[in-house]
Amino acid sequence: MSISYEKLATQLKASPRSWLVTGVAGFIGSNLLETLLKLEQRVFGLDNLSTGFQHNLDEVRSLVSEEQWRRFSFIEGDIRTLDTCCSACDGVEYVLHQAALGSVPRSIEDPLTTNENNINGFLNMLVAARDAKVRRFVYAASSSTYGDHPDLPKVEEKTGKPLSPYAVTKLVNELYAEVFARTYDFNTIGLRYFNIFGQRQDPDGAYAAVIPKWFAGLVKNEAVYINGDGETSRDFCFIDNCVQANILAATAPDGAAANQVYNVAYGERTTLNELYKLIKERVVTSNAHAQGAKPLYRDFREGDVRHSLADISRARTLLGYAPRFSVVKGLDKAAEWYLQSLG
Ligand SMILES: NC(=O)c1ccc[n+]([C@@H]2O[C@H](COP(=O)([O-])OP(=O)(O)OC[C@H]3O[C@@H](n4cnc5c(N)ncnc54)[C@H](O)[C@@H]3O)[C@@H](O)[C@H]2O)c1
Repeated sequence: MSISYEKLATQLKASPRSWLVTGVAGFIGSNLLETLLKLEQRVFGLDNLSTGFQHNLDEVRSLVSEEQWRRFSFIEGDIRTLDTCCSACDGVEYVLHQAALGSVPRSIEDPLTTNENNINGFLNMLVAARDAKVRRFVYAASSSTYGDHPDLPKVEEKTGKPLSPYAVTKLVNELYAEVFARTYDFNTIGLRYFNIFGQRQDPDGAYAAVIPKWFAGLVKNEAVYINGDGETSRDFCFIDNCVQANILAATAPDGAAANQVYNVAYGERTTLNELYKLIKERVVTSNAHAQGAKPLYRDFREGDVRHSLADISRARTLLGYAPRFSVVKGLDKAAEWYLQSLG
């Protein structure tokens, strides 16, 4: 039986556990770190700072107490090295594995590097976590695994063919996790994230995600591009919901909840045209110049699916997942952070 996140938080505070967050200097990893430290947990973090940043860790430090920060140990290292993964897993109860190279276009340009990080690195982490006898290995899977399957909403058991090298790597992660469960009786949970957004998601670089990229473009008065006609839709999910899913997944009792994959989303569809409007409304509040801004439409992007929407009933039922932030409420929070950090 799952328990509510609020109740779980109280239990964890009363009886702290030890966690390893890989990719801890990245967007999702640093938000997991912040929440876990605020819950008085002991946290180890592993990151090679390839797409993550020291400044994300510095920001978390500024948001927690000195005592909470002392419960964090950072290992700068690479999951492509098995020894590093083994040292990082030593004495850990729960692994939240986030380290990977994100971005569909990056994987299309450089499939070899994506494969090395996302498949070889993932397998190293599985082996290290198995050998360290961690209680559960929760890993970042992806909605890209639905590939060309036409059904909406997406339900976990109906997947299509992958549409990019990135999607292949995330599918292989699931296959390995399943085989480790079957072969070594190892305990895993995969979380298929659907377009997670929020504070500390990087707005810069060629592979930035749409929400941070558009906040930055509108604040800086730069061109904002929409790939396609703007009617492409996504199930955008605020980071607080994703953090909740990770902590529930790690601690869910063995049995029906274990060795599964779950959609992690809000369960609502927003088109890119609607998203542009919502972001612009928030940017205009402190950047009057954005009032007259208009998006520039260009070709559809290779490897992108047209629509994405999750059925989140499995996570609700088996994990007790209850997302607290709608897209609009999440964008309000994200706007606070982007307007301050970009301003
Ligand atoms: N953000 C999303 O919407 C989304 C959607 C689906 C899946 N995911 C998955 O969630 C995870 C976290 O994504 P994110 O958005 O926080 O991205 P991110 O790039 O901000 O974080 C990834 C972190 O992993 C680190 N990393 C990468 N390769 C590494 C390696 N070889 N060794 C050690 N550290 C390494 C990076 O330095 C970075 O800090 C990834 O696995 C990603 O594929 C994210």
